[in-house]
Amino acid sequence: MKRTWLLGTGSYAPSYTLTNEDLEEMVDTSDEWISTRTGIKRRHISKGESCSDLALEASQKALDQAGIEPGEIDVIIVATLTPDTIFPATACWIQKKLEIQDCLSFDISAACSGFLYGLFLADNFLKQGEFHTALVVGSEVLSNFVNWEDRNTCVLFGDGAGAAILRSHHGSEGGNILSKEIGTDVAGIDLLKIPGGGSRMPFSQEVLDKKLHTIHMKGNEVFKNATRTMVLAIENALKKACLSVEDIQWYIPHQANLRIINYVGKKLGIPQKKVIINLQEYGNTSAASIPIALDESLRENTIRKGDRVCLFSFGAGFTYGSIILEV
Ligand code: COA
Repeated sequence: MKRTWLLGTGSYAPSYTLTNEDLEEMVDTSDEWISTRTGIKRRHISKGESCSDLALEASQKALDQAGIEPGEIDVIIVATLTPDTIFPATACWIQKKLEIQDCLSFDISAACSGFLYGLFLADNFLKQGEFHTALVVGSEVLSNFVNWEDRNTCVLFGDGAGAAILRSHHGSEGGNILSKEIGTDVAGIDLLKIPGGGSRMPFSQEVLDKKLHTIHMKGNEVFKNATRTMVLAIENALKKACLSVEDIQWYIPHQANLRIINYVGKKLGIPQKKVIINLQEYGNTSAASIPIALDESLRENTIRKGDRVCLFSFGAGFTYGSIILEV
């Protein structure tokens, strides 16, 4: 039987942090409001580093942990909303920086579910047999796409990157991706978006003046959809793996909002101590949030070899996903 093994992970966030107290100086908000509504305390902000710069740092750590050379990678998948360039793909820039002669490199635009979409594709590629080793990265420089005058959104987001190296192997021993539930429900397509700067509304002075190149969101509508969709995604992933909530040692949610995470946990009867949360430190880093939390909890030895981990996410689109893996 073919299995997909998580060989290594890495993560990276810019050193500069913006605290809730810093934001109090910028917009009409308070640490109290941000903490109670979201759980976020600070976020890391890039000072000139691009999406591929963050991704490269995370990828190098993942390669070191996996103990492999860049040349052994035959697929690079980068999930991002904030690519270095519209084209070529950020995955191509990373391939260049890692000096990999030839491999399959492409980006995924699936918002906050991007890393799970990447894992989904990598697992399919590896199990199909054509590819042996994949690098999947979630990397975001959201601070360049936030309206720093809009208190509804600017308090929520941060920058960072997380990476995973996956390798196919045969046999009944070792880690594996056990089940995948993934999809998109376009009912809320307009509720969370960057409206300007694309081909529908190309860059213009008006786009810049109205800040239409930044994140626009109907927060409470997104909130309702997020909770409902993630509960369903987890239930379906568990069903596909023939597992119950109790069979999972760790849950890693997309780190958008503590209240959303708590709601999902309560609805499914997941004990709070099994849920990995680091959003107080990073805010919402979109596609990077799950791989950063995964990497941190593996390096801290919170998650141990043989543990079953359920990843789940929700993002603009609305994309959603839940992936269960044995590490
Ligand atoms: N500081 C202080 N007040 C703020 C604020 C801020 N940073 N942002 C919004 N408010 C105000 C609003 O203006 C509103 O004031 P009003 O009642 O006078 O109009 C009030 O707080 C309540 O706004 P509301 O949007 O209803 O708050 P909420 O409880 O829904 O919390 C979010 C707002 C954004 C934290 C919450 O909706 C959320 O987390 N949604 C999901 C967002 C998300 O996860 N997006 C990414 C998905 S991947």
